[in-house]
Amino acid sequence: RLPNPPPLCWSVTSNALSIIRPVTGSLSGKVNLPCFFFRVPTSAPVISPNGTAIYNRDYLRIKWTKINGEDESTVLVAQNGVIKIGSIYRNRVSVPSHPEDVGDASLTMVKLRASDAGTYRCEVMYGIEDTQDTVNLDVSGVVFHYRASTSRYTLDYQKAVQACKDIDATIATSEQLKAAHEDGFDQCDAGWIADQTVRYPITKPRAGCYGNLQMKSGVRSYGARKPSERYDVYCYVDKLDGEVFFAPVIRKMTFEEAREECEKSSAVLASPGQLHAAWRQGLDRCDYGWLSDGSVRHPVAVPRIQCGGGLLGVRTMYRYRNQTGFPESTKKLGAYCFRGEQ
Ligand SMILES: *[C@@H]1O[C@H](CO)[C@@H](O)[C@H](O)[C@H]1NC(C)=O
Ligand SMILES: *[C@@H]1O[C@H](CO)[C@@H](O)[C@H](O)[C@H]1NC(C)=O
Repeated sequence: RLPNPPPLCWSVTSNALSIIRPVTGSLSGKVNLPCFFFRVPTSAPVISPNGTAIYNRDYLRIKWTKINGEDESTVLVAQNGVIKIGSIYRNRVSVPSHPEDVGDASLTMVKLRASDAGTYRCEVMYGIEDTQDTVNLDVSGVVFHYRASTSRYTLDYQKAVQACKDIDATIATSEQLKAAHEDGFDQCDAGWIADQTVRYPITKPRAGCYGNLQMKSGVRSYGARKPSERYDVYCYVDKLDGEVFFAPVIRKMTFEEAREECEKSSAVLASPGQLHAAWRQGLDRCDYGWLSDGSVRHPVAVPRIQCGGGLLGVRTMYRYRNQTGFPESTKKLGAYCFRGEQ
């Protein structure tokens, strides 16, 4: 007997259950990767001297593996009550405590990282039965640094919250910033976080960015701050409900012309939140373009030396060399437009 059907489509071929739709989670969130098996006892009962039948517990082994092309890495192995977990999954994955009682070997994964996205295989050996299943996991969401148009460190807490809202994002939580850091996010600028602390993520410790962690990789924290203090902000954006595209014209445009150009395509200038979400979904373009807040950026999803120096991410064009100020609105550039889903 299978437990309650999971809320997904299944296709059953002999003993292998394959999921058609991928499981989706959000950065720093939680997902359940389903894996069910038939729990028919297969070993013969042993008759004790007083005549009662005793069913020995069947041998049970659960193995979850992440498949990365040719590479496979072990996520978790549970066998006779002993659980082994791969180092990058420590404190982040679990299976039900008595899988044999429920026929459920689903993997619960928390503190999701973008790098957790991919294909997972579950193998269950129970008695003489073997079950195999693969599940695809998508992880949406990206954390990004935001600086106001005027200068560095100009946002009090309230303005920081509003700044993220104005660009179709929300102020990031410390869990989201931590997950982004574990994926390699490095930014040496102090920014507000939702819990009214001020932090910044560093993966390559260097002079001026040691903070409270010295030479260790990690999210630096200034602790809880007075809401009137001024910093930059870290924003978070989840999935994109629509499409971001580079305006299909060769001529370069001022900010105002860029806005009109997007309108010609029944679209609007994309916001930084939308551009980051689109970048996370693979948007890649080497041309700088205007965005709705008057900032100028371009997304690099494929590393190339001649475009962003081989680094990945959304690049920002500032007015000054000290990385402050949005460009003058008369500057001639491209445009990133956004069209919502109908
Ligand atoms: C029969 O024996 C088993 C173990 O040998 C024991 O657990 C069980 O309680 C016994 N049953 C009766 C009715 O005595
Ligand atoms: C950045 O440079 C501009 C122009 O040189 C200057 O006006 C501004 O004060 C500088 N800002 C910071 C935060 O250093």
